[in-house]
Amino acid sequence: MTLADVIPSLRSSLPPRQLDRGLWPLTTTLGRGGLAIGGVPLTLVEEEYGTPAYILDEADVRERCAAYAAAFGPAQVYYAAKALMCRGLLRWVAEAGLGLAVYSQGQWNLARTLGIAPDRIIAHGQVETGGDGRVVVESLADVQRLTRTRRPRRQQVILRVLPAQLGFGRPPWAAQERFGAPVASGELAELVAAIADEPLLDLVGLDVYLGSQLAQFGGYEHAVAQLVATAAELRRAHGVRIEELNIGGGFAVAHTEQDPTLPVDPFAARMRRRLALECDRRAIAKPRLSVTPGRAIVARAGVALYRVTAVRHEDGRQIVAVDGGLSDNPRPALYGARYTAVLTGRASQAPLCPTTVVGRHDEPGDLLVRDEPLPGDLRPGDLLAVPGCGAYHFPLASNYDLVGRPPLLAVHDGQARELVRRETLDDVLARDAA
Ligand SMILES: Cc1ncc(COP(=O)(O)O)c(C=O)c1O
Repeated sequence: MTLADVIPSLRSSLPPRQLDRGLWPLTTTLGRGGLAIGGVPLTLVEEEYGTPAYILDEADVRERCAAYAAAFGPAQVYYAAKALMCRGLLRWVAEAGLGLAVYSQGQWNLARTLGIAPDRIIAHGQVETGGDGRVVVESLADVQRLTRTRRPRRQQVILRVLPAQLGFGRPPWAAQERFGAPVASGELAELVAAIADEPLLDLVGLDVYLGSQLAQFGGYEHAVAQLVATAAELRRAHGVRIEELNIGGGFAVAHTEQDPTLPVDPFAARMRRRLALECDRRAIAKPRLSVTPGRAIVARAGVALYRVTAVRHEDGRQIVAVDGGLSDNPRPALYGARYTAVLTGRASQAPLCPTTVVGRHDEPGDLLVRDEPLPGDLRPGDLLAVPGCGAYHFPLASNYDLVGRPPLLAVHDGQARELVRRETLDDVLARDAA
């Protein structure tokens, strides 16, 4: 029995016996001064860069890249740049040997200026690649647009396929809301014929995107089976040889202690087994199996740091306002995403109390943390750290209420440095033309 077991209120002030490794960045430590990441105490990050701030653990990102590269083979992993993209991060991803999936012209151009080879990039969403890389097509309009664009050489294309029922109840999205060609449909045959008719387009791959925060293997296995069946049919009916099957991303990452994280090694092994089985059944050569993870590479590495601005107690609950919110993390408002938080920078002896953290924007949806246990004596000036903030925060941030977006700071080996600096009011007003 420990002292904290005898005096429960001591629990919150003592360093936890261990941090939840699935939730916090790899190098997180908790000592008397609070949390440190990459060897940098978060209090020092706050002193130098202020709040709100987004902190990215370089070692964590590199470890996730290495884990996915080891599980699937580096050439078969394309980091989904929509999750988070800036020059510094892309260098780490490229150094791990991963390819890149880009979703805009800006992302393509930035990747190319950093020297990422075009054959390591998959481009979505009407990106003009000049015939380089591989482009995902989802509709006849995409094919027509590609054929209209004059290019010096052949363009490799990947066809987006909409799988049928995936075997885990309700599909993660309604097919009507998505583009892509439904499996075994006339629409798919029409799209394939349109690509085949265009001498400068080569159909080399098929891909699917099943949704996000998926922790079960079953839906992906069904998708592999349907992709292989489609590849076999394309071989039979059109003589097309599919070289690559991409099962997308969407791999779950925990944001609170209750959430699951998709384990990459058993997942990759299961997908490979299923691919081999289905290819044997259909008597076709095994295509490369590739993935496009975004969140799984960067979510855990990121921590948001906020300063408490006001505190209220009501019906045994604590309601805390912080200096960020909807403008830097719209995910709770957009998707009902849930987070947890930790007090850092001072020890508290207070018993834990269900705590809700609201943002600065005075909106019902501006709610960062809901009913998580935090010390019941929070006060203005305290620092709160929120884990699981590496993916889809920074890129979704806005200037709502003319608030400048926070900086993105890399921490590594006891040093913090800006990957992206804080946005000033001048930056925000620079486009105001009147
Ligand atoms: C086509 C496509 N691929 C991959 C991803 C990456 O998803 P995640 O970050 O959940 O892995 C997305 C995210 O929306 C996507 O739209």
